[in-house]
Amino acid sequence: MQYFYVLPILIILFNIASCAKILGIWPTPGHSQFILGQALMAELARRGHEVSVISEFEPKEKIKNYETIKLPKTGGYEGFDLLNWPTYNLFSLQKSLLDGGLKYSGALFEKKIIQELIDSNRTFDLVIVENFSNEAHMAFAEHFKAPLIVFSSQPVSDWNYHFVGNVKLPSISPFFVSPFDKHMSFYERFRTLLLSVYDFIYKELIYYPGQQALVDKYFPNKMDLKKIVTNTEMMLLFSHPLTTGPSLTTSAIVEVGGFQIVSKKLPNDIQSVLDGAKNGAVLVSLGTNVECSSLSKEQFNMFLNAFKKFPQRFLWKCPVEIPNKPDNVYLFKWMPQTDILAHPNTIAFITHNGLLSTTEAIHYGVPMISIPVFCDQMPNAIRVQKNGIGERLSFLDLTENDLYEAIKKVTTNTSYKEKMQRVSKMFRDQPSKPLDRAMHTIEYVLKYKPGPLLRSPALSLWWFQLYMLDVLLFIFVSIVLLYLFISIILRKLMFSKKQNKRKTA
Ligand SMILES: *[C@@H]1O[C@H](CO)[C@@H](O)[C@H](O)[C@H]1NC(C)=O
Ligand SMILES: *[C@@H]1O[C@H](CO)[C@@H](O)[C@H](O)[C@H]1NC(C)=O
Ligand SMILES: *[C@@H]1O[C@H](CO)[C@@H](O)[C@H](O)[C@H]1NC(C)=O
Repeated sequence: MQYFYVLPILIILFNIASCAKILGIWPTPGHSQFILGQALMAELARRGHEVSVISEFEPKEKIKNYETIKLPKTGGYEGFDLLNWPTYNLFSLQKSLLDGGLKYSGALFEKKIIQELIDSNRTFDLVIVENFSNEAHMAFAEHFKAPLIVFSSQPVSDWNYHFVGNVKLPSISPFFVSPFDKHMSFYERFRTLLLSVYDFIYKELIYYPGQQALVDKYFPNKMDLKKIVTNTEMMLLFSHPLTTGPSLTTSAIVEVGGFQIVSKKLPNDIQSVLDGAKNGAVLVSLGTNVECSSLSKEQFNMFLNAFKKFPQRFLWKCPVEIPNKPDNVYLFKWMPQTDILAHPNTIAFITHNGLLSTTEAIHYGVPMISIPVFCDQMPNAIRVQKNGIGERLSFLDLTENDLYEAIKKVTTNTSYKEKMQRVSKMFRDQPSKPLDRAMHTIEYVLKYKPGPLLRSPALSLWWFQLYMLDVLLFIFVSIVLLYLFISIILRKLMFSKKQNKRKTA
């Protein structure tokens, strides 16, 4: 009879303990970053946590327990011409990413709503920060005395490895801005090493002091940013060996690539275009940064002229009206990319190879025609081609003929489809769902605050200790000393022998 009362009380207690207040910081102007942030935070809300998300975007529909701390809209990434990315050199790209990061990290604190949040008496049990050159934002964790989780829309890279003491081996870790894959030639490794040294020095001398200055300026209490950053409990990465290539990760890193993918019903107009595509359909999307309206008239016509020669239907997110549109080209104001990829008639995907799109194409097994434009799109596209799951083209000197040939190969040669199906099956064959893994990681941190128990030993070493340079130096100096010692002794011995000989002679 007593149990009758205990049970409901236990349930209430359990709910109080397991329902946390979580602050999510998604400050970037990139919509694809927000898609990931929303998928993560909305699932936490669904599980009964109270989430507050700092972002300039908000969910389309109201979600229970989900509050948006809304930032004013910005104009996207300012400062450089993304379309001409390949013409920049790697050093200036890296520098501009870091400088841009400093600028926009500071811009967040200027917002009134953020100042109010800092001055408020609100409390949080956990802070999740999206990594995007914004270390200063991690100080919210210390400010609210809450554990910190970092989310990165990237694989383990120069963007994020150092928070959790992941070891970055330059030989297999090309920079985010580099247009090459992890299998690097001598020259690429050479450039990577130089860039690593440059990046290290620039971060130590300019970038980190800049981020620290923001923390000093905007938070009431004195805080050591380096300490905050290396106290990161866990890091969630939007990666998977089959999408971003295999990498070395410590136990504080959990790879959750593909966690945002859910199938929904297609809108009726798109559904009927796809259902009626007897020869298959090709999805075209070059990402939110290269809308069809940002293409020149020649470029746009080049695409249409190439598409015209195929029996397939081409679906393109392109909110323009054009007079003599080919019959097999369908332009839509808005397209649910994931659900189009999920349709059995979709046989190819013309894509910029952003990580989100690449992951979705792999999930649904659709071969790609890659036209990478900037950032990690280049290495993603290189991997696509290398793994035989698509063809790669250059955006800056794209011709109608290249485009035609690539589409023809991918839509007629079955080898792309076969390889893609295998990769897709391997990708989906996981012991747990990526979203469940992300939730488990977050709730694990809430429950245990593992701290030093899971922290990489690399965090307590200097860089020269980490790479054993001190030990190598010791060995080198020892060998030199030993050599000198032996040669001096030998010389002495020889000298005395000679003298002995002379004496006896
Ligand atoms: C927190 O601040 C609000 C208004 O700013 C106030 O109404 C409330 O009583 C405060 N709560 C605590 C615990 O100080
Ligand atoms: C995030 O990303 C940038 C890459 O631009 C990196 O340099 C930085 O150290 C990372 N960390 C945070 C918390 O922003
Ligand atoms: C199909 O593509 C594969 C890989 O690129 C190639 O080895 C093969 O020869 C192609 N087959 C035909 C019929 O072109």
